[in-house]
Amino acid sequence: MTTRHPDHTATGSQRRPAPRMGLGTWAYDRGEFVHAAEPRLPLSTQALHYGTGTFEGIRAYRSDRGSLQLFRVREHYERMLRACRVLRITDIPTEVEDLIAITVELIGRNNHDADVYIRPLAHKLALLPDTPPGVSLAGVSDGLSITTFGFPSYGIAKEARCGLSTWRRPPRDSLPTQHKITGGYVTSALASDQARAAGYDDALLLDGSGHVAEATTANVFAVAAGRVLTPPGTSDILPGITRDTLITLCRESGTEVLERELSPSDVFTADEVFLSSTGNGVVPVVGLAGRVIGNGAVGEVTRRLADLYDAVTRHADGAHPEWRLPVNVPEADGTPAPPHRQPAGSKA
Ligand SMILES: Cc1ncc(COP(=O)(O)O)c(C=O)c1O
Repeated sequence: MTTRHPDHTATGSQRRPAPRMGLGTWAYDRGEFVHAAEPRLPLSTQALHYGTGTFEGIRAYRSDRGSLQLFRVREHYERMLRACRVLRITDIPTEVEDLIAITVELIGRNNHDADVYIRPLAHKLALLPDTPPGVSLAGVSDGLSITTFGFPSYGIAKEARCGLSTWRRPPRDSLPTQHKITGGYVTSALASDQARAAGYDDALLLDGSGHVAEATTANVFAVAAGRVLTPPGTSDILPGITRDTLITLCRESGTEVLERELSPSDVFTADEVFLSSTGNGVVPVVGLAGRVIGNGAVGEVTRRLADLYDAVTRHADGAHPEWRLPVNVPEADGTPAPPHRQPAGSKA
């Protein structure tokens, strides 16, 4: 496998970057492990111009027994590969096990031994010979990169006050909203920018028919009369993996969950509202568009679900072992741990 040592003053593999917060020193890019800060994509990269890419946000959590555990990594890569099929991205490793092997090796190379956020990005790259210029998917080459970030997760880290965005979530027959297509995030960026400019932390977006869809990068739940309500997975939302995890944990703990349309007034009058995402876990929403939600404090159901989520992501010997995949921890002398298997698609 070809590697470039990120520290150009070092020789061979005797020097390893120290563990740190933020972007890992190594990245994976089109079959190689490379310096993460080294710009490599041509300015003509198709995804940069047309938003023809798909990404994932995956987390590995340090368990209470000291190991690092990837959480629902298979489901994340399966979702990315479904989006790749939509975008005709075929010339990348397309086996989930190969993508996991690359991810595990990258985590080892970056010496992550605490909570880490993994960002794969699959994208259209360059027109192949004989492809006419223009916006297209067929006849355009593909690329896959993966970067990692040291990014601690703290359970309920913050309470959010949200605005109600004037930007609407696009319908899935215009943009496949159930996939994490890069171009679709312009709506999230506009809504987030609008909310922050008005002093809010985030925004809730309505869909075309005026129902609450989700936040800019998170799904939304409301609690009313002890029941947990969330928009259906078949509406114009991204059906999040955290959303699915929380629905499962609710049902297992005896809390009724209803997937149904929510009007803005359902949310204004809810006892509790919270958001869910891989990046931020469970985030209580204590205010919406200048109104107080419930009693303005973190609700009992929200707190209980946040605790259950924390437990299932961190307790290596706890429930749902099928959701966690242990990552090999690097050797004490800094030698990278061997990958689970040789990543396919990487250059030997
Ligand atoms: C638009 C959108 N909705 C929902 C989510 C939550 O998805 P997940 O729980 O799979 O992270 C995300 C995550 O990035 C998102 O970008």
